[in-house]
Amino acid sequence: MRLLMFCLFSIVFSHWTDDLDLPRELLEYTVRNSPDLRKKCEEDPHCPIQRDVLSNGRCWGHEEGCPFERSYSANRISCTLPVQKGRIQSREVQQEHFFDQADWGYLRGHGRSERHQICESSDQEGTRLVCSDHLAHCTAENIFFDFSNLNARHSKRYRDDVIQPGQVGGNCGKFNKQLLDAHTDRQSYLQSWGAEFKHFESSPSFVVDDDNCDVIFERPTIVIKLDASINMFHHFCVFINLYASQHINGSIFDTDVDILWWDTFSNGFVDPYFKPAWAAFSRHTPVELTSLDGKRVCFRKALLPLLARQRYGMYYNMPMTDGCTGSGLMQAFSHHMLHRLRVLQRGPLVDKIRVTILSRSTMHRRIINEKELFSRLQSMEGVEARIVDYNGKVPFLDQLEQTHNSDIFIGMHGSGLTHLLFLPDWAAIFEIYNCEDESCYYDLARLRGVRYKTWSNMSLLTRHGEGRHPHNGTPHAKFTDYSFDVDEFERIVGQLISHVKRHPQFVEERRKMRRKSSGTKQEL
Ligand SMILES: *[C@@H]1O[C@H](CO)[C@@H](O)[C@H](O)[C@H]1NC(C)=O
Ligand SMILES: *[C@@H]1O[C@H](CO)[C@@H](O)[C@H](O)[C@H]1NC(C)=O
Repeated sequence: MRLLMFCLFSIVFSHWTDDLDLPRELLEYTVRNSPDLRKKCEEDPHCPIQRDVLSNGRCWGHEEGCPFERSYSANRISCTLPVQKGRIQSREVQQEHFFDQADWGYLRGHGRSERHQICESSDQEGTRLVCSDHLAHCTAENIFFDFSNLNARHSKRYRDDVIQPGQVGGNCGKFNKQLLDAHTDRQSYLQSWGAEFKHFESSPSFVVDDDNCDVIFERPTIVIKLDASINMFHHFCVFINLYASQHINGSIFDTDVDILWWDTFSNGFVDPYFKPAWAAFSRHTPVELTSLDGKRVCFRKALLPLLARQRYGMYYNMPMTDGCTGSGLMQAFSHHMLHRLRVLQRGPLVDKIRVTILSRSTMHRRIINEKELFSRLQSMEGVEARIVDYNGKVPFLDQLEQTHNSDIFIGMHGSGLTHLLFLPDWAAIFEIYNCEDESCYYDLARLRGVRYKTWSNMSLLTRHGEGRHPHNGTPHAKFTDYSFDVDEFERIVGQLISHVKRHPQFVEERRKMRRKSSGTKQEL
C-alpha cells in the first residue's frame, strides 16, 4: 500500500521540467532561454527554477545580444598565456578569442547561425527553408526529397549525386532562388547541404499528402549526412555538431523526433559500436536512407544540422588559441550526453584517485610494458588502478561508465582517447605518447577543459621496430609499439594526481562524499 501511494505521488508530482530530461544547470539555461518554457515556468507555482534564476540574464552565448560576460562559458574558460602589455591582450580578450573560435561564439561566427529565408510561406501547409551561410545548417518545413536516384543496392559512400534537379522541393509562397544560388558554393558531401539543395524547386501544386508522398515524417526529423561510423573521434564530431545545431535551432532537446541517417552506402550506416549514444537525441530508432530507396519522402519539419567535416569545423580542423582551455559548449555537450545516457558518477572516492589505463588490442601502438606500468600504479599510495580494453565486446555505455569514473585516464594516441570528452570536469588525461601527432588530443582536451600531459623525454621511451606506413612504406611513428620508463611514468602520473587533488570541483565533491560516508557510519 505504501509503495502504491508512493508511486501515485511520484506520478502526480513528476513535473514537466523533469520530462525535459536535462541536468540541473542545463535545464535552467534551456528554460530561461526558450520563450515558451520561460513563460510556462513563470506561470507555474511549482516550477523548480526560482524567479531570480529565471531572470538572471544568463544566456548560452550563441544568441544575438548575448555578451560573453553573461554566457554559459564566462567563468569556465581559463587562459594561462602571459599577459603582455600592448601585445597579446588582456586575459578577457584571450578568453573571448577562444570563445569565438571554439565555444558558443563559434556558432555565431562565419554566419553559422545566420538565417537566410530561401523559401517562405505564410500559411501552415506551405514550405519554408531557412539556412545559414553556405547552407551549412538548415531548417525546413513541408519539403520532400525524392530518392529515385539512390539505387541503394549498388550505392557507394559519400555520394553527392543522389538528389537530381527537381528531386527536392516544396511549395513556397516566395522562393528566393538567387539567395539559394549565392550559398551553394560549398558542395563537398560533409561540408554542407549544397549538393542537395542546389536542386531545390518550388511547385504550386505540392502539398504534403499521400498523393505527393510515399512516406511522410510527421514528427520533427533530424536529417543527417554521416561519416563512417567506426572511429570514435570522427563519430563524436558528428554528435557535437548535432548538439550545436539543436542549439542554433532553439530546440528544447525533445527526443520525440525522428532521425534519418543519410549514409549513401549500400549497407547503410548501421553504427555497430556507438549506436546507443543516439538515444540522447531520439527515443525512436533511426531510419536508414537505404530503406527509403526509390521513394518520395516528405517532412513536416526537418533539421539539417552542421556536418562533421566543415572547413574549420567544430572540432575537426579547428584552430584554437594557445594557452586557453574549457569550452562551455563542449562541457555542456558532455554533461548532456552523460545525463541522458544515465551514466552515473560514483566518485570521487574519499581516499583514492581512480587511474585507468586504456589498453589497445590492435596491431600497432601497443604499450609493450603495460603490465609493469600497471603494477607501478598499484604500488602508488592512494591510487586505485584499473586497465580497460574498449574493444567491440564492451558495450559502449559500459565504456562511458568506466571512463566517467576515472580521475586520470591514460592511453596511447588513438581514437579511443576521444573518451576524454566524458571524464569528470576535474580529471586529467595522459596521452602516454602522441606518436608525433601533437595537437589532436591536446586540443580535444583543451576543448573539454581537462588537464593534458604527454611523454616528452624521448630518451626514456623505447620504440619497438621502426614503424612503416602500411600503404606507402614510409617511416611512421603511428605504426609501431612502445615501452616507457617506469620512474618517469610515475613522475608524470604523480603530477596529474596533484592536479586532480587541487581541482576545486574535486575538492568540493570529495567533501560531500566524506560527509555522506561519515553520516552512514553514524547511522550504523
Ligand atoms: C527545431 O525547432 C523547432 C521550433 O522550435 C522545433 O519544433 C523542432 O522540434 C526542432 N527540431 C528538432 C529536430 O529538434
Ligand atoms: C631525460 O631523461 C634523462 C635520463 O633520466 C635525463 O638525463 C635528461 O636530463 C632528461 N631530459 C630532459 C629534457 O628532461
